[in-house]
Amino acid sequence: MDSVTADTPPTARRLILVLHGPNLNLLGQREPHIYGTVTLAEIDQALRDAASARGFETVIVQSNYEGALIDQIQRYGPVACGIIVNPGALTHYSIALRDALAAVSIPVVEVHLSNVYRREEFRHRSVIAPVVTGQIAGLGADGYLLALRYLMDRCGAEGTGAHA
Ligand code: DQA
Repeated sequence: MDSVTADTPPTARRLILVLHGPNLNLLGQREPHIYGTVTLAEIDQALRDAASARGFETVIVQSNYEGALIDQIQRYGPVACGIIVNPGALTHYSIALRDALAAVSIPVVEVHLSNVYRREEFRHRSVIAPVVTGQIAGLGADGYLLALRYLMDRCGAEGTGAHA
């Protein structure tokens, strides 16, 4: 959790929710030949800096639990102006996460550090992709920053309301 604590009541604002799924807490040590050496803390700091430079808040959550990610979507989806999600392996099978994202009316960008389409066959299918605005895969940590820029531009263009 970042910038806004779990106890802060959510109210409509220029807020971007960033969700990292299972095992992404291990970035930096986990299969560095695939995911690089950047840590999750470094990615989160870069996102925080880029967001605050434009007057946006961030709520950044990593969880190894599907339900914890869904709770954050339900909590902040109605009031945020965009969501960045790297669902990790949940990408490939979590209908529950997909349904939670389908229920929000704000833009959502799915990010993968690796180019999942160049990897094992089971990673080629995302059950999340059909319900999100767009997907960025294979650009490493830059993918998160590109997603953030897109969402901030959209939020700025469409106002601070929750329903972009
Ligand atoms: C990932 C790709 C997934 O297939 C994998 O399970 C991950 C990370 C990526 O960022 O490249 O955990 O989402």
